[in-house]
Amino acid sequence: MTELDIGMTGLKDRIAAELAAVRERSLAYTDADDDVLTRQHSSLMSPLVWDLAHVGNYEELWVLREVGGIEPLRPEIDHLYDAFKYPRANRPSLPLLTPAEARKYISGVRGRVLDVLDRLDPADPDPLRAGGFVFGLVLQHEHQHDETMLATLQLSRRPGLVRDGELPPGGAPAADPEVHIPAGIFSMGTDTVAWAYDNERPAHRRHLPGFWIDRHPVTCGAYLRFVEDGGYRDPRWWLPQGWEWVERTGVDAPLFWTRDGDTWWRLRFGREEPVPPDEPVQHVSWYEADAYARWAGRRLPTEAEWEKACGGREYPWGDAGPADLAYRANLGHRAARPAPVGAYPKGASPYGVEQLVGDVWEWTDSWFQPYPGFRSFPYKEYSEVFFGETYRVLRGGSWATHPSAVRTTFRNWDLPIRRQIFAGFRCARSED
Ligand SMILES: [Fe+2]
Repeated sequence: MTELDIGMTGLKDRIAAELAAVRERSLAYTDADDDVLTRQHSSLMSPLVWDLAHVGNYEELWVLREVGGIEPLRPEIDHLYDAFKYPRANRPSLPLLTPAEARKYISGVRGRVLDVLDRLDPADPDPLRAGGFVFGLVLQHEHQHDETMLATLQLSRRPGLVRDGELPPGGAPAADPEVHIPAGIFSMGTDTVAWAYDNERPAHRRHLPGFWIDRHPVTCGAYLRFVEDGGYRDPRWWLPQGWEWVERTGVDAPLFWTRDGDTWWRLRFGREEPVPPDEPVQHVSWYEADAYARWAGRRLPTEAEWEKACGGREYPWGDAGPADLAYRANLGHRAARPAPVGAYPKGASPYGVEQLVGDVWEWTDSWFQPYPGFRSFPYKEYSEVFFGETYRVLRGGSWATHPSAVRTTFRNWDLPIRRQIFAGFRCARSED
């Protein structure tokens, strides 16, 4: 939604409704016994109760203190929920709030947040207040932690903790598996999306040579051919660091996949299922995506290529808001899995590229770097401290990503060995 679209009262109503919805989501994911919430299911992740209190603490810092000028409610707990203070692996040993205390704390914060919202003047030029930016910040932050909680719940390997949702639509993939994107200038990033993060700004012009990009993400079936062709045993396909990772960890398939005789199974929220051949592959690292692409005689797209393939709108199909999203993309945990390729022809970009947004985050070839003219806002730890040649960019969101927390300009990033996120990829190639 752009600033122009938002009427003043409509904006506050929308924010209030979205705040209620995201909280309902966070409480649903933490509707489990205290053992599930306080245990560390993986050293990569916080205990779920940390995420729960952290979203309230973040809301307190930004909405209540920075914008509302309200005194700290529980200053003694701030350090526990500062994401930069203690590594995730150490969080279980901290004197964290109990699940009951965490629920009480975040609900107390939320009541005051609604008072601040009531007093908001969205026309205030202060950048935290303009267009309700600070509320967009905390909403997206909570949805991002909700997705993190889903990844933690998947890593727990326990059944019965995550609702399965509806079945996604069936897939009827178009016959032509690749799309040609002609050479030319396009506008990358945004100046106008009200809740866009600092790393998506500013909009700037880029020239790209012509290229080909996959119409759909790479499927489990296609990826299985790489596995069965010995892809994990052949250093030709891997970058040296990727091969070192394969040898050190012994990985031989995507995370959560196991082989039983001739059948491959995947574990999804504690349940074993045959690997679905038509679904985009997920839980692969950047190194695996990169190796598959080389094996297939292709490469990963750069993030500029990925964004250009979206066609320059807020979503690939246009600027339409959540009302008709169900026909266009698999977002917001309606289903608890990616949809088969070809499931969303109405979500295609003007070039005809499909499933760019939703289903699986897509690894790109690009390092997470600032755009020309980048200015950190509202704090350096959101993006700036991660810039460099350490993290690879992912685009497009997954089935677990809420529509308010993703758009064609949205940039995510992670280490190239990480597989716990709901990430897959598609391939590209340069013009001959
Ligand atoms: Fe956070």
